[in-house]
Amino acid sequence: MDHRTGSDTLTKPVDLSSLVPVLFGFAAFQQLRAASELQLFEYLTLNGPSTCDQVAGGLGLPVKSARKLLLGTTSLGLTEREENRYALSGQLRAAFDDGTWPLIRNIIDFQQQLSYGPAHEYAESLRTGTNQGLKHVPGSGTNLYARLEQTPELENLFYRGMHSWSELSNPVLLRQVDYTGVRRLLDVGGGSAVNAIALARAHPHLEATVFDLEGAIEVARDNIAAAGLGDRIDVAAGDMFGDPMPAGYDMVLFAHQFVIWSPEQNQALLKQAYEALEPGGRVVVFNAFASDDGSGPLYSALDNVYFATLPSEDSTIYEWHEHEEWLTATGFTDIKRVHNEGWTPHGVIEGRKPDA
Ligand SMILES: C[S@@+](CC[C@H](N)C(=O)[O-])C[C@H]1O[C@@H](n2cnc3c(N)ncnc32)[C@H](O)[C@@H]1O
Repeated sequence: MDHRTGSDTLTKPVDLSSLVPVLFGFAAFQQLRAASELQLFEYLTLNGPSTCDQVAGGLGLPVKSARKLLLGTTSLGLTEREENRYALSGQLRAAFDDGTWPLIRNIIDFQQQLSYGPAHEYAESLRTGTNQGLKHVPGSGTNLYARLEQTPELENLFYRGMHSWSELSNPVLLRQVDYTGVRRLLDVGGGSAVNAIALARAHPHLEATVFDLEGAIEVARDNIAAAGLGDRIDVAAGDMFGDPMPAGYDMVLFAHQFVIWSPEQNQALLKQAYEALEPGGRVVVFNAFASDDGSGPLYSALDNVYFATLPSEDSTIYEWHEHEEWLTATGFTDIKRVHNEGWTPHGVIEGRKPDA
């Protein structure tokens, strides 16, 4: 029966094959997560192309389970099958070779343990315009960071994941921004100090201060000490909305910060930065961006489920031009866009406080 005409003529069913990865999106992620947790990729890296029986033995799985897992990872292009042996796909092999895989593994844990539950509240978050996923995080407070401070295990998980997100995406910040003449940098909401440490390593003349809530500052202190950079990076605990922004810097960095707050809050932060900066000083905004025509990219569109459901009532990935408008309205000049050369939608917008 043709449902549109009511006739019995047989018509070809509409091809919805492009819907498969979306309809089963949760299952695709679970194939990747199980492979990560069971260390399939590590096994194949160590042992080379292996049969299903060998994988089952190596991972301590029933053979029927190894078959399911290998079917999943092979269909998703994470592994390849030749004859009856399985090996890592070229892309994953490259991630192992260049050291990216441990970052991806931390991000998988972050998605599984922090983002996945709250994502169930996406429709409700859209309906109410509030971060309804926060009910999955214990504690009180209307944003994620206030709650993380109350649950140390979750806080550790968050900063392990956040550290990895930053390491994955910060080459644009390290390599494509000019730090000539910058002596002292303030990293506002600097978290685990991941970016301050990477910047100090890449630019030996830089000194930095990581400004964040007390819980994050404890994590930052440990990382700075472990990196042996205590003489060049210090910390300041405070609330960026309640306490004055530390002054005396010639660059203020907001890394993964403007995705959390409302446009009004972002402009208030820029105003504080403007006042704290020396004349001629620069502000640098580093995070993921959405395209100006609102059409993507896919990474930003999908990551926005996390932002809609969890960090704060207003978190979202904004378009490039919105950042530029905030900087202009604050008084910054020489505003520049710096696009990431890598595969993530990260970039930098920077501006300069005019000379006195
Ligand atoms: C998404 S994380 C980014 C961390 C780091 N900048 C990075 O890129 O990896 C946001 C950071 O902002 C901090 N933060 C949130 N609210 C804050 C506040 N009111 N005052 C200071 N820091 C705050 C959080 O503690 C967290 O470390």
